[in-house]
Amino acid sequence: MDFTGKTFWITGAASGMGKALCAELARFNVRLIISDRDKEGLEKTVKTIESSGSTVRIEVLDMADTPSIMKTANKVINDGEKIAGLYQFAGISQRSLVVETPIDNDRKIMEINFFGVVALTKAILPHMIENGGGQLVATSSLVGKFGFPYRSAYASSKHALFGFFESLMAENKKNNIKVSLLIPGRVQTNISKFALKKDGSEHGKIDPGQAKGISAEKAARIIYKGLKKEKKEIWVGGSEMLMLHIRRFFPAIYYYMASRLKAM
Ligand SMILES: NC(=O)c1ccc[n+]([C@@H]2O[C@H](COP(=O)([O-])OP(=O)(O)OC[C@H]3O[C@@H](n4cnc5c(N)ncnc54)[C@H](OP(=O)(O)O)[C@@H]3O)[C@@H](O)[C@H]2O)c1
Repeated sequence: MDFTGKTFWITGAASGMGKALCAELARFNVRLIISDRDKEGLEKTVKTIESSGSTVRIEVLDMADTPSIMKTANKVINDGEKIAGLYQFAGISQRSLVVETPIDNDRKIMEINFFGVVALTKAILPHMIENGGGQLVATSSLVGKFGFPYRSAYASSKHALFGFFESLMAENKKNNIKVSLLIPGRVQTNISKFALKKDGSEHGKIDPGQAKGISAEKAARIIYKGLKKEKKEIWVGGSEMLMLHIRRFFPAIYYYMASRLKAM
């Protein structure tokens, strides 16, 4: 991917990795369409982008609201924006056991982390095909590759992204559609702060594991390099990424470790 002068749509752009990637891409005289449910956060991201000389358009978007996703995507396309890449970061996490989690929480997490991502992708894909191709990026997780205590709905939503995007990739190679799945491990962002507890309220704190992760800026540099190379999977993290090898080559060790992991 050559980023220079092209238009990219980034969700989850008000905070964390989405915001940090905006700063990374803004160096290339790009046009960024930035979305999030947090309008004030987006306005701060605008300043970073404009100070690097790139241009920006804000589209406040709730990824749990499919009709509004479709409406916004149509508006953006009808305004003549030519989207070279759709990079989706918006998402929420979870902190509750299966046994105590009401099904409504599972649905809410799936709605934002999976159906919202699918809806926006479907709205943009025909436009990309018509324009001769593009890059679609979804943010899965280390727990999109294996289960993890207190994350049943979150891990499910992140696993589901693999099924959807690998199928899309196979169907659309002929259309020059590139797909990258991001697999972050631990990155210092607000993700644990806004994680859903069993009663539907927010977890409200940054977990110790999260705090020991790599910075969002370092994550964005790794993501940028992976996107440039159009890698199909981009691993984003530190030593915790070793778990991917353990799960694959030594599953018995993973099962043992997972059952002994502490909540956070
Ligand atoms: N940080 C990690 O260690 C880690 C690890 C694996 C995967 N991930 C994934 O990475 C992605 C980016 O997260 P992050 O770590 O950068 O955390 P973050 O700083 O919390 O960023 C997530 C962004 O998504 C927004 N968002 C949440 N629900 C939304 C909705 N319904 N509609 C629109 N926007 C919404 C949040 O807005 P608010 O600020 O209003 O909540 C926030 O700006 C997420 O998909 C997350 O699951 C993160």
